[in-house]
Amino acid sequence: NENALALPVGTTLDRFIMRQQEDFPYAKGELSQLLRDIALAAKIINREINRAGLIDITGAFGKENIQGEHQQKLDVIANIRFKRALINGGEACGILTEEEEDIIQTGNENGKYVVAIDPLDGSSNIDVNVSIGTIFSIYRRVSPIGTPATTEDFMQGGRRQVAAGYILYGSSTIMAYTTGQGVNAFTYENSLGEFFLSHANIKMPASGKIYSCNDAYFEDFSEPVQNFVRNLRKNDGVARYIGSLVGDFHRNLLKGGIYLYPPTAKSPHGKLRLLYECYPLAFVIEQAGGIAFEGSVKTLDVVPQKPHQRSTIFLGSPEMVENLVKNFFVPE
Ligand code: AHG
Ligand code: MN
Ligand code: MN
Ligand code: MN
Repeated sequence: NENALALPVGTTLDRFIMRQQEDFPYAKGELSQLLRDIALAAKIINREINRAGLIDITGAFGKENIQGEHQQKLDVIANIRFKRALINGGEACGILTEEEEDIIQTGNENGKYVVAIDPLDGSSNIDVNVSIGTIFSIYRRVSPIGTPATTEDFMQGGRRQVAAGYILYGSSTIMAYTTGQGVNAFTYENSLGEFFLSHANIKMPASGKIYSCNDAYFEDFSEPVQNFVRNLRKNDGVARYIGSLVGDFHRNLLKGGIYLYPPTAKSPHGKLRLLYECYPLAFVIEQAGGIAFEGSVKTLDVVPQKPHQRSTIFLGSPEMVENLVKNFFVPE
């Protein structure tokens, strides 16, 4: 939108949020404050990630989460940090996190928003210094102000998100988000403790050569998906898969490409979680001109049934996803 283009790269996240809020004259700044609270938690986690090897917070925590995954210490730390920031921030009445089965009541019953979050994405990469991330999704609550958050607040469907984004703790730490006015990304300057606008109004390349999928599951993929991948391999496709969705997503967003997590024997409904991985990244990619497809409908149109439900996802440059859907997914 012209607002982002009007601002010089280098605008701080705080100033950018404030300027964007001016576009919403009736907004009282709660969503802006909520985005700032998320950015604060990201700064704290960024510092802990950068010191992980030094303060013994790498490795397994020794417990399993609701997903049946062995929680890493940083999974647990990131979860605590985000909960604390959102509880103290006051704008969110409820939180749904990958790391806990039940919805968390923040105690801010007058909060107008709820947040679904993957506090630490790519946990298998923590101890080996490969990029990891955080993914978040924000809804305006549908339950009455002054009451506890409800499951319905989280089950409104992908198109009811009011904001979504991610933080990538990589060679630099970047926070990208959308409120439906395009996608903007901010790079963290450690010495100043500030995020600065570095990628204004991101538009995804219409096509690309990069494809991201776990080759180990190739035999499980359906015939159409296998043929799609074979076709890419034959036409100078570039295989890039780091096992951190946020890292693979952000690279493909900037360079063009497609990320595929089809059904596998191990995850017959796909592995990625709808509410705090698929929906938020689908909102971001659509705002950047890309497509997120679940196999029969757009990801944002998948009907949510359960808080931690998983979903198949094909996430990428529009021409690549359209090619997959039109030329490979022959209608049953
Ligand atoms: P998380 O670490 O939040 O549980 O997410 C892991 C996800 C995603 O980040 C990554 O792309 C994918 O799992 C990797 O799955 P495979 O190891 O099955 O390829
Ligand atoms: Mn996990
Ligand atoms: Mn994840
Ligand atoms: Mn996670």
